[in-house]
Amino acid sequence: MAGLKRLVTIALLWILLLGVERLPLGTEAFEIAVPQGSSITVLIKLGTLTLPSKPCYIIISRRHVTTLSIKSGERPVFTFSCQNPENHFVIEIQKNIDCMSGPCPFGEVQLQPPTSVLPALNRTFIWDVRAHKRIGLELQFSAPRLRQIGPGESCSDGVTHSISGRIDATMVRIGTFCSNGTVSRIKMQEGVKMALHLPWFHPRNISGFSIANRSSIKRLCIIESVFEGEGAATLMSANYPEGFPEDELMTWQFVVPPHLRASVSFLNFNVSNCERKEERVEYYIPGSTTNPEVFKLGDKQPGNMAGNFNLSLQGCDQDAQNPGILRLRFQVLVQHPQNESNKLYVVDLSNERAMSLTIEPRPVKLSRKFVRGCFVCLESRTCSVNLTLTSGSKHTISFLCDDLTRLWMNVEKNISCTDHRYCHRRSYPLLVPRDILLLPVELHDFSWKVLVPKDRLSLMLVPAQKLQQHTHERPCNTSFSYLVASASASPSQELYFGFFCPGGSIEQIQVKQNVSVTLRTFAPTFREEASRPGLTVSFIPHFKEEGIFTVTPDTKSKVYLKSPNWDRGLPSLTSVSWNISVPRDQVACLTFSKERTGVVCQTGRAFMIIQEQHTRAEEIFSLEEEVLPKPSFHHHSFWVNISNCSPASGKQLDLLFWVTLTPRTVDLTVVVIAVVGAGTLLLFVLGLIICCVKKKKKKTDKGPAVGIYNGNINTQMPRQLKKLKERKDSDPHVYAVIDDTMVYGHLLQDSGGSFLQPEVDTYRPFQGTMGDCPPSPPPTCSRAPTVKLTTDEPPPCLTPESESEPYTFSHPRNGDVSNRNTEVPLLDTQEPEKPTE
Ligand SMILES: *[C@@H]1O[C@H](CO)[C@@H](O)[C@H](O)[C@H]1NC(C)=O
Ligand SMILES: *[C@@H]1O[C@H](CO)[C@@H](O)[C@H](O)[C@H]1NC(C)=O
Ligand SMILES: *[C@@H]1O[C@H](CO)[C@@H](O)[C@H](O)[C@H]1NC(C)=O
Ligand SMILES: *[C@@H]1O[C@H](CO)[C@@H](O)[C@H](O)[C@H]1NC(C)=O
Ligand SMILES: *[C@@H]1O[C@H](CO)[C@@H](O)[C@H](O)[C@H]1NC(C)=O
Ligand SMILES: *[C@@H]1O[C@H](CO)[C@@H](O)[C@H](O)[C@H]1NC(C)=O
Ligand SMILES: *[C@@H]1O[C@H](CO)[C@@H](O)[C@H](O)[C@H]1NC(C)=O
Ligand SMILES: *[C@@H]1O[C@H](CO)[C@@H](O)[C@H](O)[C@H]1NC(C)=O
Ligand SMILES: *[C@@H]1O[C@H](CO)[C@@H](O)[C@H](O)[C@H]1NC(C)=O
Ligand SMILES: *[C@@H]1O[C@H](CO)[C@@H](O)[C@H](O)[C@H]1NC(C)=O
Ligand SMILES: *[C@@H]1O[C@H](CO)[C@@H](O)[C@H](O)[C@H]1NC(C)=O
Ligand SMILES: *[C@@H]1O[C@H](CO)[C@@H](O)[C@H](O)[C@H]1NC(C)=O
Repeated sequence: MAGLKRLVTIALLWILLLGVERLPLGTEAFEIAVPQGSSITVLIKLGTLTLPSKPCYIIISRRHVTTLSIKSGERPVFTFSCQNPENHFVIEIQKNIDCMSGPCPFGEVQLQPPTSVLPALNRTFIWDVRAHKRIGLELQFSAPRLRQIGPGESCSDGVTHSISGRIDATMVRIGTFCSNGTVSRIKMQEGVKMALHLPWFHPRNISGFSIANRSSIKRLCIIESVFEGEGAATLMSANYPEGFPEDELMTWQFVVPPHLRASVSFLNFNVSNCERKEERVEYYIPGSTTNPEVFKLGDKQPGNMAGNFNLSLQGCDQDAQNPGILRLRFQVLVQHPQNESNKLYVVDLSNERAMSLTIEPRPVKLSRKFVRGCFVCLESRTCSVNLTLTSGSKHTISFLCDDLTRLWMNVEKNISCTDHRYCHRRSYPLLVPRDILLLPVELHDFSWKVLVPKDRLSLMLVPAQKLQQHTHERPCNTSFSYLVASASASPSQELYFGFFCPGGSIEQIQVKQNVSVTLRTFAPTFREEASRPGLTVSFIPHFKEEGIFTVTPDTKSKVYLKSPNWDRGLPSLTSVSWNISVPRDQVACLTFSKERTGVVCQTGRAFMIIQEQHTRAEEIFSLEEEVLPKPSFHHHSFWVNISNCSPASGKQLDLLFWVTLTPRTVDLTVVVIAVVGAGTLLLFVLGLIICCVKKKKKKTDKGPAVGIYNGNINTQMPRQLKKLKERKDSDPHVYAVIDDTMVYGHLLQDSGGSFLQPEVDTYRPFQGTMGDCPPSPPPTCSRAPTVKLTTDEPPPCLTPESESEPYTFSHPRNGDVSNRNTEVPLLDTQEPEKPTE
C-alpha cells in the first residue's frame, strides 16, 4: 500500500516538474490585493469551457492549482501555466454589502479590485446587498441604460447584468440585461444581487451604476424605462419564463417625451389558477380620469398614450394543488404621433344589423428590418394591431400608424330571411355604408351573406349597371368587382360563380340558395364607384338550378361567359343556365372556346342544351362524347343550359363561350336562301306539325319524344324511366324530347351536324323549373315514337300559333305561364323590384 502511495507521489512530482519545465518564459505574474474588511472574495476557477486543449494551472508558491480563492486581507502572487488562461479560467469577484448590521455604503459602485490589476479573464462582479425589509434599494444606471433579454438571448458585446432579488429566503430573478436600452432604475426591497459579467477582452473599467436607499416600495420591484426618442422596449415579469412569485406585485414605470406616444402590447402571457384575488394589470395613464385603469391580461392593452405612465402586474393567491403559472412578456413602443392619430373617425353602425368590420394588418412578407407599430385605437385609448367593430353602436376610432397602407379592412354582413312569407319579393341594396368609405384604410372585402330558408326561396342579384364576368379573355379592369358564391349541392362546398364587375352584359344572376357576394376592391377610386347603389338582392321563389344568368349582349363587344367553379369544375349533378337575349334586329353568334369539354363521367351524363326561346326548339349535346358545336347563329333569344354528371376526378366540366351580335340583314338572306332551297321539305314538315298540334289539342299525347326528363337528380336513365311512369299528374319536371331535325334543318349546317344525335334517350334530366321557358324540349310535334306524358295539362310554353318567320313553324305563346302547376314557384323575373330597405 505504502509503496503504491509513493509511486503515485513520484508520478505526480514528475508531472509537476514537467509542467514547470514547460512554463513559458515571460508569463505575467499577478498580485491581487483584497483589502482587509472589504468583504470581497475573489475566486479564480475553471470556466465552463470549451475547446479541448492542454490543461492549464494557476501557479502559486510553486504549487499548481485549478482554483484560487482570495479573501479579505490576502495578497497572493500567482502566474498561469499557459499563455491563454482566458480560455481556461474565469474570475468571480463577490462583494457582500450588509446594510442590516451597519451603515450602507450608497453611491457610485466601484469595480474593486480595479480591472487593471486583474488578469484578462472573463470576470463577474457580484454585489450582494442585504437590507431590511422596509428599506428600498435602488440601482441607478446612468449610461448605458439596460435592455432586458429573454431566455436564450445574448448581448452582442458579451456584457450582461443579471439582477435578482429576495423574498424572505427565496431568490427571485428580476432579469438579465444588456447595455443598450431604456432601463434606468430598478428599485427593490430586502436586498438585491447584481452580477456584472464582463468578457476578458472588454475594456470596461466602471460598474456603470450606483445604489441608493429609498423608502419601502411595498412590492417586489419597480423597473423604470426612459425613452429619449422613438424606440421599443421588451420587458418580462420576474422569473420569466418561469412563474411570477405568488401574490406579488411588480411595476414598470415609463418616461416618455411629451411629443411622443406609447403603446403597450403583450407578446406572451400565461395566467395561473387563482384561489383568491384576480391576476390583472393596472395602468396609471396621464389624462385618464379613471386611474388606475385595470385590464385583464387577455384584454387589448392601451396605446397612443401621451406622457409618462406606469403599469403594474398583480398576482393572486394560487390554488396550491394546481397553481398554474403567471408570466408576462410585453413590448412598449414609443413613436411619433402619426397625423392620423389626431384625427377621429366616427363609424356609425347603430342602424346596421349583423355586420362586423375588422381593421387588421395586411398580410406581408416578414422582413428583418425594424417596423414601427401600426395600431388602431378605439376611443383613442385602447389600441391594438387589429380591431373589430360590430353593428348596433357608434364607434370612434383613430390610428397610431405611420403608414395606413399597412392596414386593410374587411366587412361581413348577414342578411337572413327566416320567414319566407315575409321575405318573398323583398329586395335589399348591397351598399357599403358611407362611414366605412370615409375611413383612411383600404376596404379589402365587403361580404354580404344572404341566407334563406332551405328550399323555400332563391335569390336574384340585379346590378345597377350590367355586369361583366371576369375572364382571361376579357379581364375586369374596374376598381372593384363582386365575387359571387353560393352553397352548392354539397353543403360543405362553396360554388364560385366567379368575379363580376360593372360594364358588361349580365343583367341578373339568380342563385338557388344562400349566396355570398363579396365586393373586393382593386384601386382606391372604388370609393366613388362603390358609394352608388351597385347591386340589389331580391328574394324570389325557389328554383332548382344552381344559377341562371340573364345576359343581354350589346352590339359593340363580345360577351365572354364561363361556367361556375371555373378552376375546379362545375360540381357534380348541378345545372346552370344562361338566358341570352338577342335584340330583334340582331343575330347572335355563339362560340365555344374548346372543341370538347374533356369531362369524363363516373355516373350520370353531362349535357348541354341550347334552346331557342321563341320556338323552344333545342339542340342537345352530350358533353362527354360529342364535340361542342361550331359557332352557331341565333335569331332569337336562347338558352344555354349545362347539366353535369358526377365527373371522374381531374376530368371536370368547365365551359367558356362567347356571344357576338351582328345586324340581322345578312343572316336573313342566308336563311331565306336556305328556306327556298329546302322548300318542299319544309312544306311537308309544316303539314306534319299542324297535324301534331291538332292531335295535341285532343290530348292524345301521341308525343314524339324519344326521351323524357324528370327534375330529380337522377342520371340513371333506366331507373328514371321507371320513375316517370309512377309520376303524378302534378309533376312539373316532366319533359318530352322530340326529334325536330327537320324543323331546324337549317341550323344543322351551322352547328356542324352535331346536335340531335340519335342517342337523345340517354339525357340527363334538366333541372330547371324556370317560370318562363327553360330549355326543355318542345313537347309536341314530332314524328318520333311517343312516350306517354302523364300530365293532363298541355306542356308549358307551347302555343299553337305560328309567326311569319320563314324558318319557324311553331312557337311558344310568350309568357304563357298561368296554367303551370302552382307547386312550382315561378320565377317572374321581369319586373324589377324596388328595394324596400
Ligand atoms: C468567456 O465569456 C465568453 C462570452 O462572454 C464565453 O464565450 C467564453 O466561453 C468564456 N470563457 C470561459 C473560460 O468561460
Ligand atoms: C442593442 O444592441 C442590439 C445588438 O447590437 C441591437 O439588436 C438592439 O437593437 C440594440 N437595442 C437598442 C435599444 O439600441
Ligand atoms: C477607465 O479607463 C479609462 C480609459 O479607458 C480611463 O480614462 C479611466 O480613468 C478609467 N477609470 C477607472 C476607474 O479606472
Ligand atoms: C438612507 O439611509 C440613510 C442612512 O443609512 C438614512 O438616513 C436615510 O433616511 C435613508 N433614506 C431612505 C429614503 O430610506
Ligand atoms: C401559456 O399560454 C399559451 C397560450 O397563450 C399556452 O399555449 C401555453 O400552454 C401556456 N403555458 C402554460 C405553461 O400554461
Ligand atoms: C404610477 O403613476 C401614478 C401617477 O403618475 C403615481 O401616482 C403612482 O405612484 C405610480 N406608481 C408607481 C408604482 O410608480
Ligand atoms: C403630417 O402633418 C405634417 C404637418 O402637419 C405634414 O407636414 C406631414 O406631411 C403630414 N404627414 C402625413 C403622412 O400626412
Ligand atoms: C353571419 O352568420 C354566420 C352564421 O351563419 C355567423 O357565423 C357570423 O358570425 C354572422 N356574421 C355577423 C356579422 O353577424
Ligand atoms: C387580432 O388580434 C388578436 C389579439 O390581439 C389575435 O388573437 C387575432 O388573431 C388577431 N387577428 C388577426 C386577423 O390578426
Ligand atoms: C342557408 O342558410 C340558412 C341559415 O343559415 C340555413 O338554414 C340553410 O340550411 C342554408 N341553406 C343551404 C342550402 O345551405
Ligand atoms: C377597361 O377595359 C375596357 C375594355 O375592356 C376599356 O374600354 C376601358 O378603357 C378599360 N379601362 C381602363 C381603366 O383600363
Ligand atoms: C330571359 O331574359 C329576357 C331578357 O332579359 C327576359 O325578358 C326573360 O324574362 C328572361 N327569362 C327568364 C326565364 O328569366
